Amino acid sequence: MDNIELSNGCKMPAIGYGTWQTGDGEAARCVRSAVEAGYRHIDTAYGYMNERGVGEGIRTCGIAREELFVATKHWITGRGYEKTLAQADESLRNLGLDYIDLYLVHWPAVAKTFDDWRRINADTWSAFEKLYHDGKVRAIGVSNYLPSHIEALREDCEIPPMVDQIEFHPGYWHRETVEWCKKNSIAVEGWSPLGCGKVLSSPLIGEIAAKYGRTPAQICIRYAIGHGVVPLPKSTRPDRIADNLRVFDFSLAAEDAAALDSMPQLGYSGFFPEDAPADELVRQMEK
Ligand code: A2P
Repeated sequence: MDNIELSNGCKMPAIGYGTWQTGDGEAARCVRSAVEAGYRHIDTAYGYMNERGVGEGIRTCGIAREELFVATKHWITGRGYEKTLAQADESLRNLGLDYIDLYLVHWPAVAKTFDDWRRINADTWSAFEKLYHDGKVRAIGVSNYLPSHIEALREDCEIPPMVDQIEFHPGYWHRETVEWCKKNSIAVEGWSPLGCGKVLSSPLIGEIAAKYGRTPAQICIRYAIGHGVVPLPKSTRPDRIADNLRVFDFSLAAEDAAALDSMPQLGYSGFFPEDAPADELVRQMEK
């Protein structure tokens, strides 16, 4: 499997197994299936509420810890320096691991919700820098950050993010963010590379899949890889988990990638960072 080299020299496998919306009870089985199929990069988050199951899968999959690349994300309820340090320790305990390969800020604080969004993000990030210096995490990055959020962070902090994880699939991709990150040596990961399954019935993707003798899911995943984006497809079905990994023996012709680039919007989650969707979700849960 190919690797992407992060700006600190750390190697990250070029595809990861996503676990958003996978229940804690089934996560261990799913992770073991993914590792058996060949995935070596597992992506979870404190906010997914499945770190325990994911950790159990990692610890019982039969592959040495150092051969796996484990990513988790800091959740918005832990913003600020001290709370971030405490939440990172909780994630490590949940996972049952003594280090994380990649630790990501899940969502930025944004101007819509906080006047002092910039200070909040900088305080959280300072804790990330400490976790990195202390060796609890091998690489640090952000998720759902637009270039303006990363620019502010770079001015306010010492270590620039090594990764930005954003929604990426045919029918919705942050062209500007992907291009900006590339210019600034920030690796891009794509969440929901299948548009949560909603883009798989697109006639255009079906046509391209037939042309290459591939499944629509493989076309979407290969599309991300062609953009230099690390896709994080998720499935709870062992056959699909394995199918989604068979994408390193073909590539899309430029005209097919271009057709996917200009597809009308499809499968968009509706989660635009500046609208603070995670803050809204937490607000509704607390009601
Ligand atoms: P399931 O878990 O039943 O396989 P995304 O990664 O973009 O969020 O998409 C995840 C969704 O796509 C899940 O509903 C998953 O369902 C479905 N899915 C994943 N892989 C495939 C595949 N190879 N073919 C069809 N659907 C898939």
